[in-house]
Amino acid sequence: MNTRQVIGGEREFLMSTYTRPDFVLEHGRGCYVWDKEGKKYLDFIGGIGSCLIGHGDIGLAKVLEKQSKKLINTTNLFYTEPQVELAKKLVKLSGLSRVFLSNSGTEANECAIKLARKHTKKSDIITVRFAFHGRTFGSMAGTWDEKYKKDFQPHLPGFVIVNENEVESAITENTAAVMIEPIQGEAGVRFFREGYFKQLREICNRHNILLILDEVQTGNGRTGKFFAYQSYGIKPDIVTLAKGLANGVPIGATITGKGINFTPGSHGSTFGGNCLASSAALHVISVVEKKKLMENARKMGAYFSGELRKLKSPCIKEVRGLGLMIGVELNITGKEIVGRCAEKGLLVNCAHERTLRFLPPLTATKKEIDKCVGILGQVL
Ligand SMILES: Cc1ncc(COP(=O)(O)O)c(C=O)c1O
Repeated sequence: MNTRQVIGGEREFLMSTYTRPDFVLEHGRGCYVWDKEGKKYLDFIGGIGSCLIGHGDIGLAKVLEKQSKKLINTTNLFYTEPQVELAKKLVKLSGLSRVFLSNSGTEANECAIKLARKHTKKSDIITVRFAFHGRTFGSMAGTWDEKYKKDFQPHLPGFVIVNENEVESAITENTAAVMIEPIQGEAGVRFFREGYFKQLREICNRHNILLILDEVQTGNGRTGKFFAYQSYGIKPDIVTLAKGLANGVPIGATITGKGINFTPGSHGSTFGGNCLASSAALHVISVVEKKKLMENARKMGAYFSGELRKLKSPCIKEVRGLGLMIGVELNITGKEIVGRCAEKGLLVNCAHERTLRFLPPLTATKKEIDKCVGILGQVL
């Protein structure tokens, strides 16, 4: 198919869920992708953060080839080694106790919601303003923005969405947990005030409710630590991961602290924990560790934010970031800027209308960052 045929085919045969630019991506290497016409783009949205170690990783391709020739999926009716290896690794990295493996961020959050209800025998989950937790019914009920929810009533009951400073007053005898992102990605890389998570941990302890952290976007080393909570000096009762964990091979993980567990038959998944995705995730984590990509995220993130601040464009309101999760809030809407950047060979996206969001692979170099900032400067 040529470019025109792919775009026409998408419009005819796929459901209308995304508005896409008019080029067709075909292959990638590291932080770069190429379209069907041979145009090269610097990919600094990286599959909304799912491309953690870069495109076209040969090591990952070898792992996928080797594993797919052995076993792809047996379902969870049987023991397989890669999922146990992965769970062991995630337990070690998180300091928590057990893992349930699924296939996406929203599923990882659904699992967390079910666990919270089962463990506490209570119904209510408190989430906060601007939260985004996914598109399925539990995660969607905890998501703040009506634009994701308005056509899908009735919503799952038991969700209470409050301002971030009103969590404690929203707790009742029915509250099972608070669910929150350490940095709100879809809201435009929005940070909570200093000390917020320590206070929230204390509130949850005092009221004997669970703290669920949704690290679907912040996890896997993106912010400079494997989990963002490790920068805040707290530990959640449940944490969820997805996106970059297997570099784009679908996977989700829900990791729990001591005593929070299902019972046989109380949860399940046909594909969750399959050999292919688990092997991919093990490879990705080993690359993150061997290539010191969390250190790179810290160093390059600081450099990137600094260079963005130097732009001093009147269109820029604020630059916010931790590691390689960076938002540039504009005084104008970001849609046109995103389009102009793509014309000049830079892929970024816009979160919450006015914030350009950068989630590049953790392999990003100074040279690539300079290129990105150069293009953005010209466009602004
Ligand atoms: C914080 C957060 N939670 C959950 C999700 C949903 O993940 P998925 O799209 O893999 O279902 C996202 C996706 O952007 C997210 O950013």
